[in-house]
Amino acid sequence: MKGLILSGGKGTRLYPLTYTRAKQLIPVANKPVLVRVIEMIRDAAITDIGIVIGDTGPEIREAVGDGSQWGVNVTYIPQDAPLGLAHAVRISRDFLGDDRFVMFLGDNVIEGGISGLIRQFASSDWNSQIVLKEVEEPQHFGVAELDASGQIRQLIEKPKDPPSNLALVGIYMFDHHVFEAVNAIRPSWRGELEITDAIQWLVTKGYRVFPYVHKGWWIDTGKPTDMLEANAHVLEELTPYVAGAVDADSIVDSRVTVEEGAQIINSTVRGPAIIGRNTVVRDSFIGPFTSVYHNCVIENSEIERSIVLEDSRVMHIQTRIQDSLIGRHAAVEADPRKPRAIKMNLGDHSRFWLP
Ligand code: TTP
Repeated sequence: MKGLILSGGKGTRLYPLTYTRAKQLIPVANKPVLVRVIEMIRDAAITDIGIVIGDTGPEIREAVGDGSQWGVNVTYIPQDAPLGLAHAVRISRDFLGDDRFVMFLGDNVIEGGISGLIRQFASSDWNSQIVLKEVEEPQHFGVAELDASGQIRQLIEKPKDPPSNLALVGIYMFDHHVFEAVNAIRPSWRGELEITDAIQWLVTKGYRVFPYVHKGWWIDTGKPTDMLEANAHVLEELTPYVAGAVDADSIVDSRVTVEEGAQIINSTVRGPAIIGRNTVVRDSFIGPFTSVYHNCVIENSEIERSIVLEDSRVMHIQTRIQDSLIGRHAAVEADPRKPRAIKMNLGDHSRFWLP
């Protein structure tokens, strides 16, 4: 069995962070979402992984390389434009050959434990297996309607009037019959070749497509609020460790990970939280559900339920920072000089909230 990860796309909903960076490389609990996906596929004993890349391909190649760091072999499959998930399958034919495969969206984060399901598909004779999840606003997703016996009756992409609240989660398993489907379907009203239409085609032709309803959490990290939520869930699943230095004046509870070279000085860190490599936290409070990435400085400030990316600093901020996503090389600082005004140097599409 092979793995296929979709990492093209533009990530417009995560601007400004994704102006300069592939959204799949944004870390959740200090590990890029794409790396979490690679590890999940590897845990299902799959070592041949194709990654579909678009405009941000060079950055993804640089971060992942040949995959040997995770014990897998990575093949890159360039996609000229994000023409849809089924288009991504179509252009991956040479890589996939006639093997069964699991396809993951490179920006989705799902609760652990899905590897068993993938293994089960590997040894089954089903043509496809899809993963469904009950959601509150199904009209934004591909939606499945099941019959009384739990089998798929129909699948519709972003229906105005959803027949159920079961959305297609970004994990799909197929055998080679899917290539007939992706070659047969036509682009949707939004100009994309929809994977939902391809799966519906398989169902209509009588191929065996099995639905699995996932009970754990699943997050499509499209928007900043989704990133914060995914971060909170993953932090709760982490097994904490302290490899960095915590001084005697600090209080760090048992659900906090302190990575190598990090220093916690005269501060309180309340977990679940993670402090990245070579980051310094001084005279500060770090609250639950916070991830501070590598080489940051948090000084004389309070921050909780937030993500701070690498090489950034938060200094002398006396109001607590909460629910925030702070990009790379960013500085959030108090300036004691007069006039006492708010000064900003925000990137395009940035947002700034005052209490
Ligand atoms: P989306 O979230 O649907 O698209 P996007 O990344 O362009 O985001 P936005 O709407 O914010 O602009 O894509 C889901 C995943 O699939 C994401 O990891 C990108 C990837 N993808 C491809 O690789 N090829 C494609 O043709 C499409 C549509 C998505």
